[in-house]
Amino acid sequence: DAGKGEFDHYMLKEIYNQPSSLSNTIEGRANDGEVTFENLTEGTFSDVDAVQFVACGTSYHAAMYGGQLLRSAGVRTEVLRASEYESTTGPVDENTLVVAVTQSGETADTLEAVREATSRGARSLAVTNVVGSTAARTADDAVYIRAGPEVGVAATKTYSSQAVTLALLTQQIASDVPGGEPAADKAKLLESLRDLPEHVEEVLESSQAEAIARERLDSQSYFFIGHGLGHSVALEGALKFKEITYEHAEGFASGQLKHGPLALVTDETPIFAVYSGRGDEKTKTNAIEARSRGAPIVAVGPDDHSLADAADTHLSVPDTHPVWAGLLANVQLQLVSYHAAKLLERPIDKPRNLAKSVTVE
Ligand code: G6P
Repeated sequence: DAGKGEFDHYMLKEIYNQPSSLSNTIEGRANDGEVTFENLTEGTFSDVDAVQFVACGTSYHAAMYGGQLLRSAGVRTEVLRASEYESTTGPVDENTLVVAVTQSGETADTLEAVREATSRGARSLAVTNVVGSTAARTADDAVYIRAGPEVGVAATKTYSSQAVTLALLTQQIASDVPGGEPAADKAKLLESLRDLPEHVEEVLESSQAEAIARERLDSQSYFFIGHGLGHSVALEGALKFKEITYEHAEGFASGQLKHGPLALVTDETPIFAVYSGRGDEKTKTNAIEARSRGAPIVAVGPDDHSLADAADTHLSVPDTHPVWAGLLANVQLQLVSYHAAKLLERPIDKPRNLAKSVTVE
C-alpha cells in the first residue's frame, strides 16, 4: 500500500502518472520532425506489405487506434482479437508483420496468435511494457512503451503509452513500406505530441469527471459512442467502466447506435459521446437522435460551441492535433470510471474475477 503514496488507489495514481509516463514514452523518439526507435533502423520494414495487430482487452483498443492510423497511411492493416486469430486472419506470409500489443507481454491468447502467425511465415514485433517478457523474448523485435510498472488491474497509463508508441511506429512503418504515406503534416504532428503530457496535466487539474459520475450514478446502462479514432476510445471507455464499476456499459461506433442499440436508449442511459477532433459529425447527429429519446449526453472532447444542441454536459480537453485528441478524451473517461467505482465502493484496484495478466487461453 505504501506504493500508492498520496492516492487512495493505484489506479488513480497511475492515471495521474500519465504526464510523466507519456514523457518517458516519447523521450528521444520524436525529434526534429522525425521518428526514431533506438533499435529499429530506417528501412527495417521495407519488405513488409501487410501488418496485423493482435491484442486483447485494453491493448486491443490501443491496437485499433494504431491500426486506424496505419491504414490511413496507406498500409494494408488488420486489427485482430488475439483469441480469434486463427478464424479471422487473412493470408499471411513472410511479408506480413504481426505486431503483438501486450502491456505485460504474457497474455496467452496474444502469444498464441504470434506463434500461429510466425508458423505461417510472418515476421513479429512485440509492443510491450515489460522488458524481458515472453513477448519481448520471442518476437523478432521489441519496442517498449516505457510506461513504468502498472499495478491496477484496469489498464490506464499503459493504454496511453501504447497508443502513442503505435502512432509513432505508424510513421516509421509508412516511411519504410513501399506505397506507404507518412502523415503530410508529420512535423506538426510530432510537435503537438510534445505538448501531450502538459495537455493531460490540464485535464487532470480541471476535470469535472467526479461531478458527472455522481450525477449519473444510478443509471440503468452507460453507453459510449465515437467515430473513427473516437470509436476505439468509446470501446475503451466502456470496458474500463464495466471492469471497475460492475455496471452495464457498452461502446458503439456512433453511426451504429441507430441500428439496434437505440432500442435501449431512455433517460436512464447516459451516453458519453467521444469527439476526436476529426469527422465527428456522425457522433453529433447520433447524439442528437439519442437525446431526443431522453438520453442524457455527455460530450467528451475539445471545446466546440456547435455541441450545445447535442449535449447536456461537457468534459473538455485542450485543443490539439486530431490524432491526440482521443487520448485526452480517454483520460476524462478513465476519471469518470474511477469516480463512479469509488462512489459505488468497488474494490477498484482488484475487480472481481479479473486478473492483471491472463496466462491461460
Ligand atoms: C487482462 C487485463 C486487461 C488487459 C488484458 C490484456 O484481461 O485484465 O486489463 O487489457 O489482459 O493484457 P496485456 O498484458 O496483454 O496488455
